[in-house]
Amino acid sequence: MNDTLLERLDETAAAIHARDPRTPQVVMVLGSGLGSFAETLVDATAIPYEEIPNFARVTVPGHAGRLVIGKVAGGASPVVAALSGRIHLYEGHPIDDVVFNVRALLRAGARTLMVTNAAGGIAPGLAPGDLALLTDHLNLTARSPLAGPNQAALGPRFPDMTDAYDPALRTVALECAASLGQTLRAGVYAGLLGPSYETPAEIRMLRAMGADLVGMSTVPEVIAARHMGARVLGLSCVTNLAAGVSSSPLSHAEVEETAGLARGRFVALLQAVLRRLA
Ligand code: HPA
Repeated sequence: MNDTLLERLDETAAAIHARDPRTPQVVMVLGSGLGSFAETLVDATAIPYEEIPNFARVTVPGHAGRLVIGKVAGGASPVVAALSGRIHLYEGHPIDDVVFNVRALLRAGARTLMVTNAAGGIAPGLAPGDLALLTDHLNLTARSPLAGPNQAALGPRFPDMTDAYDPALRTVALECAASLGQTLRAGVYAGLLGPSYETPAEIRMLRAMGADLVGMSTVPEVIAARHMGARVLGLSCVTNLAAGVSSSPLSHAEVEETAGLARGRFVALLQAVLRRLA
């Protein structure tokens, strides 16, 4: 195994290229309950994470751990590299591992990251099952994938995060939702370490800080992707009202169940956006 991050990324990108010579254009990270989107891709090459050198592995139930490279069925499509199974900080992985798989696929040539997640709804009016566009985030993980010596070959020491969630891609997503007759909400995502859900007091704090959505993922991948100059589209499925917004306790089973119920709409939206990126 190679030593430096850059060497490991390039070794991984080369190994993926050896399994499928197409250059990926869009990297997708599929959140809780959404992994099955990868199965909708056609002309697909599926590679278990454990067969990809250096790839970080998955430990959460509901996350499969396969890379699927393929295209959206029925017409023009970019080459999509879908990560079914995400690595979370709360699993105890170093943050370099949390973002490694995304970085490797960007290194392999992709210029766009589409990141999805299950989130708790904080903003008034959000309901379980709603889909929401991320307009910005709050990094409340107290970590950054960029801490440590800067990898100048990947990006700058101090990357700008002003338009972290690409305004043009957000417009595309809103247009696609409208053409599908879907309501697409929008908001600021607070990314926390987890794995306990928030307390009601923490949710009141997050609301005061300007958060509309809360979750335990996404922020590290987005920071790493912006560092590498990729444009980012972020989409949440609101799987539950945040703690204290409703009085019922939160559970992973509820998160997966609601994500499952919204899956058809979520898949249709992702496919429509991808077709527009062809
Ligand atoms: N909080 C944190 N993460 C989550 C939630 C939540 O309410 N729902 C889904 N992921």
